[in-house]
Amino acid sequence: MDRPLLNRRLAAFGTTIFAEMSALAQRTGSINLGQGFPDADGPEEVREAAVRALRDGRGNQYPPGPGIPELRTAVAAHQQRFYGHLGLSYDPDTEVLVTAGATEAIAASLLALLEPGDEVIALEPYYDSYAACIAMAGGSRVPVTLRPSPETGTYHLDLDELRDAVTDRTRLILLNTPHNPTGTVLTRDELTAVAELAVERDLLVVTDEVYEHLVFEGEHLPLASFPGMRERTVTIGSAGKTFSFTGWKVGWVTASPELTAAVRSAKQFLTYVSAGPFQYAVAEALALPGSYFTALRDDLRAKRDILASGLADAGFQVFRPAGTYFITTDIRPLGEQDGFAFCRALPERAGVVAIPNAVFYDHQDQGAPFVRFAFCKSTATLEEAVRRLKRL
Ligand SMILES: Cc1ncc(COP(=O)(O)O)c(C=O)c1O
Repeated sequence: MDRPLLNRRLAAFGTTIFAEMSALAQRTGSINLGQGFPDADGPEEVREAAVRALRDGRGNQYPPGPGIPELRTAVAAHQQRFYGHLGLSYDPDTEVLVTAGATEAIAASLLALLEPGDEVIALEPYYDSYAACIAMAGGSRVPVTLRPSPETGTYHLDLDELRDAVTDRTRLILLNTPHNPTGTVLTRDELTAVAELAVERDLLVVTDEVYEHLVFEGEHLPLASFPGMRERTVTIGSAGKTFSFTGWKVGWVTASPELTAAVRSAKQFLTYVSAGPFQYAVAEALALPGSYFTALRDDLRAKRDILASGLADAGFQVFRPAGTYFITTDIRPLGEQDGFAFCRALPERAGVVAIPNAVFYDHQDQGAPFVRFAFCKSTATLEEAVRRLKRL
């Protein structure tokens, strides 16, 4: 067979860097600060709720397509609790859709909303499934690059560049705030500009807000709460990030009835349903008291500080994240230029695994000297990683 097995749409994507780097971590016994999964499970009572559901026979057979009512109600109540003061609320029956993680929510949204040839603007560097999902949907991606500013130590969105990226073929903006991998939390002014642009050019926005509760500086503002955005925005959340159960793959979409129905049309032929018993547990998790969410954030803020100062002491330039559990660093102060080569050598050199940011770029040259570390790990693990990195 001369013809390649993998089709043209996916040929460029190969194996994700996370698989390669996690395998490298195992082979070398390194501390894995590559993939963003916590090294401790979420709350015991939520785990118990899953066990109870499983034993009680709740969710062991196909749950309802849009998600169990208890979870849809809990998602709507969560949005009301945290964003009701911004005027945002959703009807659990028509405006909430439970998905197999945020990953399926992203895929289903793009598969549902794009025609082949439609352009999608995505903030670069971007989470790796975005490019693949845009490609699977036959869309064409138009990256708008977030630029690092060594003076402020943060990344920012160039609003002129964003405006210039819109063409007559642009269908939607795929946004992510708090932003992986840069840790940027888009400001009120930036989100206002995005909203105004979307309204002016009649664009849809799919906004990935899975790190909504991991904001250390500033505040998380859902794009859907901005004027004119409620009816054109698909908002995505995830229990994996908020409750530290990444293996359960429970995510959700909140959007207008029309958008929710469109996304559901694609979702029903991807997984149809998933994670039955876990849906019951996540419904309970979403109702945890405010102290849970505050403690999660405070714990991760302290971990950010440990890793950020350790990386700075080890010679990296650190872009201090305002949100998420990732830190992007510049390796040039260490005399290095190429993040790929650096990350492939790092396990042998220092017993630590990190991810080269170039994998999150179309313009790979823009991402070449940047490397991402995850800090959703125990304090002891982070301290040991810092000790090892100081060997550099
Ligand atoms: C920005 C972003 N979106 C989506 C996901 C995937 O979320 P889930 O595990 O719920 O599919 C991740 C996971 O790392 C992420 O960083």
